[in-house]
Amino acid sequence: MHPLLKRQISKLIGGDVNPPEFENFFQAVSDAYTQADDDRQLIERSLEQMSIELTERNRQMRHELEERRIIEQELLREKEEQQVLFRRLEETQNQLLQSEKMASVGQLAAGVAHEINNPMGFILSNLNTMGKYTDRLFEYQKAQEAALAELAGQSEPARIKAEEVKALAKSLKIKTVNDDLFDLLTESIEGGGRIKMIVLNLKSFARLDEEELKEADINQCLESTLNIVWNELKYKCTVAKEYGNIPPILCNPGRLNQVFMNLLVNAGQAIETQGEIRIATSSHDGFIEVRIEDTGCGIPKEKLSRIFEPFFTTKPVGKGTGLGLSIAYGIIEKHGGHIYCHSELGKGTCFRVALPIDNELMSD
Ligand SMILES: Nc1ncnc2c1ncn2[C@@H]1O[C@H](COP(=O)(O)OP(=O)(O)O)[C@@H](O)[C@H]1O
Ligand SMILES: [Mg+2]
Repeated sequence: MHPLLKRQISKLIGGDVNPPEFENFFQAVSDAYTQADDDRQLIERSLEQMSIELTERNRQMRHELEERRIIEQELLREKEEQQVLFRRLEETQNQLLQSEKMASVGQLAAGVAHEINNPMGFILSNLNTMGKYTDRLFEYQKAQEAALAELAGQSEPARIKAEEVKALAKSLKIKTVNDDLFDLLTESIEGGGRIKMIVLNLKSFARLDEEELKEADINQCLESTLNIVWNELKYKCTVAKEYGNIPPILCNPGRLNQVFMNLLVNAGQAIETQGEIRIATSSHDGFIEVRIEDTGCGIPKEKLSRIFEPFFTTKPVGKGTGLGLSIAYGIIEKHGGHIYCHSELGKGTCFRVALPIDNELMSD
């Protein structure tokens, strides 16, 4: 008999009662109890099974959710990468356009320099000849004056004639003319020499043939670029140069000059009234380093990350295009180098350009 049924009967009637006439009945009830027990156990087991399955399902869903989150993040990252790529593409296109423009400006400058160089050559040579001729004329004049003085003592008409000539010399201020003539010639020859120098610098700055690579001395590049921009700097900047002992490197000197020019002009423009620009070169770890430092206004932190962007400028229209640094960046990158900027607001800015000494240059 089922133990529960047994307990309930003994509670109800007392003692172990099992009258034979109810044996079948009790047996049936006992069977029903057993059956109910089995059913309950079955239900419990299936509930347990269901709970396990639910937990598993839950775990799977959490896993799926996590996967989806990762995929979403991945998509977002890809999108950002695409945007960056797109921006770079735009920059490159702008740089290409700009370097085309700069190339034609360079051509123009070199053309003009060439045109000026020829006439300047004969102007200078003529001035020198004129100097020699003037010396001869002076000598001749002196001899004439001496002859005239001598003749004046010989007869009255000769004396009168000599006085006339003297009066004419006075009214024509021949003495002043003589004194000035030499100074004028010397000044003109000096001025001509300066023009020749500028033309030479301009030619070396915008050398047409230098779209190709050649070995160049970076110190010399800096020097000729400095000569070109000196006019813009001389009123408010002193320039300190610390040229190190650096090897020549294979590069495109015209393009590098363009970089140095922009860095120097920027430095000058950052100095409001009076300041210093320091140019230093050195070589270490297989690189040549050019530092162009100024004691100008500096760049605020939030703008520092944007200065190499094309068209980013803080200067008024006409003064800045915002292209200089983005072009410089492209040129340095093409040389396998790097350009860095460090700046402190109110104190100054330092641009460092690192160029590899042994480079496998510009395969494109
Ligand atoms: N030496 C510097 N000192 C302070 N700010 C600078 C310096 N060089 C560059 N900048 C900042 O970076 C910006 C971008 O420079 P650049 O690309 O040469 O364009 P632009 O000179 O035409 O403005 C400048 O407008 C200026 O705000
Ligand atoms: Mg600039």
